[in-house]
Amino acid sequence: MALRALARVNLAAIERNVVSLRARLDGEAALCAVVKADASGHGAVPVARAALAGGATTLAVATAGEAAELRAAGLTAPVLVLGAISAEELSIVLGANAEVVAWTESFVRALADAVPAAAPGSVNVHVKLDSGMGRLGTRDRTEALSVAEAVRRAEPALRLTGVMTHLATADGDLDFAAAQLAVFAPFAAESQRRFGRLCVHAANSAATLRVPGSHFDMVRCGIALYGCDPMNEDPDATGLEQAMVLSSYVAAVKRAEAGDSVGYSRRFIARSPTWIATMPIGYADGVRRGLTNNCEVLIDGRRYPLVGTVSMDNITADLGPETPSVRAGAEAILIGRSGEERQTVEDIAQRLGTINHEVLCGISARVPRRYHRDGTPMP
Ligand SMILES: Cc1ncc(COP(=O)(O)O)c(C=O)c1O
Repeated sequence: MALRALARVNLAAIERNVVSLRARLDGEAALCAVVKADASGHGAVPVARAALAGGATTLAVATAGEAAELRAAGLTAPVLVLGAISAEELSIVLGANAEVVAWTESFVRALADAVPAAAPGSVNVHVKLDSGMGRLGTRDRTEALSVAEAVRRAEPALRLTGVMTHLATADGDLDFAAAQLAVFAPFAAESQRRFGRLCVHAANSAATLRVPGSHFDMVRCGIALYGCDPMNEDPDATGLEQAMVLSSYVAAVKRAEAGDSVGYSRRFIARSPTWIATMPIGYADGVRRGLTNNCEVLIDGRRYPLVGTVSMDNITADLGPETPSVRAGAEAILIGRSGEERQTVEDIAQRLGTINHEVLCGISARVPRRYHRDGTPMP
């Protein structure tokens, strides 16, 4: 029985992607699986398990709540919260036994104060240098070293674990990425000279694939886990496997005569008689309205153009003038393969003028996720 909208995720593909990424790492670098934003819509907990099975040693998320979600599911691997943490969120971070990123002494003090005196467990802290991303972290290397010093002073409540930065252009301008690394590497070396062995990390997926000199002790991969291309081009070129298939089904096939319109605002009017398929998936599911008259759907191994306005709950495709072979009930693929045809997350992102991450994050909670390993359903 077809579901109106369905996201199928192949966890074996994610596991293999991690194995494949690890095989490309420089030296002994470890892989941190970045599963923020519900693993970009793939499901943080199942993706985290698959990534760990593939050899990831650490998980990373953006928020305290996301760390708590992983812990609530019973995951015991280290979890690093990459994002800013407000005073209100400190207790959630501590409750989740998560690792944190610091770039101000005031945050380090607040964190240390929040660790219960009666049970001083160590909170692992990574100090962030802003080497050119211009968001979180301090640009001032001396300040970053002072922050690391403050963490050291707060032992045993806190433990200085790592130093990190984030690259702004590993998916594009590699000269700027090299310039960022030229800022970061001496800071990392100085930190280790002063404070001993630390986990040094900088690379996202793009840098993991394109900038071997950025791997250091650990890489932080998000989008590559899902088999998507960090450069937003052909994902097959990465040698990774796209893990998600987004589908609907043909709920109705009917004839439109010349002059008949389809959908809100009549943004498609048949010039000549044609057949229209309606599929019950829409922008509330993540098929963005910007795809109106601007996308294709794969049915029975063939591509058909979407026509008419994408509605909240429905889309429509033009099957052409011949009596269609497409029957009500047929599977309709928005992301994935059908026969020899495929439509990637990147194809859709390009049509929308955005990146694969945003397309994936837009697949809403209304869309059920079903997990399998190479076709074998998982509970
Ligand atoms: C600090 C940090 N590291 C790593 C990543 C992973 O990036 P990507 O999904 O491009 O691999 C992100 C995600 O944006 C991030 O914010």
